[in-house]
Amino acid sequence: MIEIKNIMKQFQNETAIEYKDMTFETGKSYMLLGASGCGKSTLLNMIAGILTPTKGSIVIDGVETSKQSQRERDKFRIQNIGYIFQDFKLLNDMTVMDNINILRLENVDTSNAVQLLKNLGIEEKKNSKIKHLSGGQKQRVAIVRALVKKPDIILADEPTGNLNFAIGEQVIKELVEISQGKTLIAVTHDERLAKYFDEVIDMNEMTDGRRDLYGEEVK
Ligand SMILES: Nc1ncnc2c1ncn2[C@@H]1O[C@H](COP(=O)(O)OP(=O)(O)OP(=O)(O)O)[C@@H](O)[C@H]1O
Ligand SMILES: [Mg+2]
Repeated sequence: MIEIKNIMKQFQNETAIEYKDMTFETGKSYMLLGASGCGKSTLLNMIAGILTPTKGSIVIDGVETSKQSQRERDKFRIQNIGYIFQDFKLLNDMTVMDNINILRLENVDTSNAVQLLKNLGIEEKKNSKIKHLSGGQKQRVAIVRALVKKPDIILADEPTGNLNFAIGEQVIKELVEISQGKTLIAVTHDERLAKYFDEVIDMNEMTDGRRDLYGEEVK
């Protein structure tokens, strides 16, 4: 279970986002939607321990991760969290397999990578360099890289943003299937995908953005 308690995140440019309390239960899938800039990626980054909240706490299975050291949070993320980043974070000059096998440096067992690539229909690209792939193919590699460690928590930031609806729908079905018994939190703007999730959370209602430096409303 992931608990979000009294969280506020302030950035150096003075953008500040307050989050209402939320609980994400183990075994459930959640779809997050909301306007650009309302704080969806920031929430995922705080759950993943990449960003720390300015105020409040994040508690994962009873452990207040927001109080841990960065090193402890990194270790927890590597072992337990599969994060599909909005911008993929793949290494462009390396092949698909190398991008996945690099996780072995962190002691991740990558033996089911080919099966996952097959499930997502990109097995034939396994020896291609990332820079030679289309946006949708990169997206699917990012998904395989996040899932290969069989994580307990899956964070997916617009995992279908670069896919057409049919493939995107397939990917969401696959993600939900793989997430059985785990926690899946996925950001997507496509309301047609809502039916595949246990819960849909409108982040516009869960966040309160204050003004940034330029005086623009954050949300
Ligand atoms: N590293 C950062 N430094 C400064 N401001 C940031 C940083 N990351 C996010 N922000 C600001 O925080 C707010 C929320 O950003 P976030 O990326 O969480 O939005 P989002 O809901 O994911 O939007 P989108 O749908 O466009 O991806 C924005 O105003 C953004 O400019
Ligand atoms: Mg985002």
